[in-house]
Amino acid sequence: MSDSRSIAVLGLGAMGHAFAANLLQAGFDVAVWNRSPGKASGLVENGARLAESPADAVDQAQAVITMFPDLAVTRDVLLSDDGALVAMTEGAILIQMGTLGVAETDRLIAEVGDARSDVVFIDAPVSGTKAPAQQGKIAILASGDRDRAGTVVEPVFEVLGNKTQWLGQAGQGARMKVVINAWLISMMQGIAETAQLADTLGFTTDDLWQVLEGGPLATPYMKLKMDMIASGEFDPQMAMQWGLKDLGLALEAGDDKALPSLSHIRNLWFDAVNAGHGEQDIAAIYAFLETYRR
Ligand SMILES: NC(=O)c1ccc[n+]([C@@H]2O[C@H](COP(=O)([O-])OP(=O)(O)OC[C@H]3O[C@@H](n4cnc5c(N)ncnc54)[C@H](OP(=O)(O)O)[C@@H]3O)[C@@H](O)[C@H]2O)c1
Repeated sequence: MSDSRSIAVLGLGAMGHAFAANLLQAGFDVAVWNRSPGKASGLVENGARLAESPADAVDQAQAVITMFPDLAVTRDVLLSDDGALVAMTEGAILIQMGTLGVAETDRLIAEVGDARSDVVFIDAPVSGTKAPAQQGKIAILASGDRDRAGTVVEPVFEVLGNKTQWLGQAGQGARMKVVINAWLISMMQGIAETAQLADTLGFTTDDLWQVLEGGPLATPYMKLKMDMIASGEFDPQMAMQWGLKDLGLALEAGDDKALPSLSHIRNLWFDAVNAGHGEQDIAAIYAFLETYRR
């Protein structure tokens, strides 16, 4: 069996890149693959092996992390003819960390199980954006066979996050993730509308924060997003296109009649993405709302 500190990271976007960097820093033996290989340059300088294909990345790894936008891309990388799954080492651990959705994750668990019953599937989406990921401070919503995978994955999770919650059988992480996203997205919309109203009434985001600071309504998340709104810079911590995807996953997993605000926010964010905000941070919903101002 290969070395338990040997790990492959597939997908070097905002989150996957941070994961790979932190694992390298912690002394793991890291192989990486990304569709656009240029994103690996900083990692290679720090000792990562840049693989030519997903299969090449995983062939020595005891654990494989996938961090892609959705099920379609994750399936393609894992299950296509030249995909990673067939090349994984016997008994390796697959740690799926992207936000794929509930039914989608259940489907992937079943397909991986059918193709490779020896591979342990750990469903572990995360809560936290790019900056917390870079600082190793995300929360990991872990699920799956902890008894079989724990000795390999727990040291990995200790590097990637500051909190791991084990939630039961594989698929439970995906369920909790859509719940957490409902809260995050509702908060973001509330922050943007609150800042809009403040502005209409002649208050800056700073005035607003001064009133809230120190009290129970002043969350660190609100401060981060209000700073973005004040600066007008929406570099993606969490891209709006993925926020829109996550809204769809929440509405698909829940009873949408009982989620009227989320339903409305989805329509609004759909329009915002179509208006060109898709690759900006979700805080750019504030800028989109400006277009509605009289
Ligand atoms: N950012 C957050 O705040 C956050 C927090 C929690 C969970 N998540 C979830 O984590 C996942 C990744 O998010 P992210 O923010 O890291 O995304 P991102 O920065 O947009 O990166 C997306 C990654 O997926 C790759 N990719 C996209 N389409 C592909 C395709 N057709 N074939 C192969 N690779 C493809 C990209 O490759 P290229 O570099 O070649 O484009 C890149 O590596 C998503 O499910 C997201 O919902 C994100």
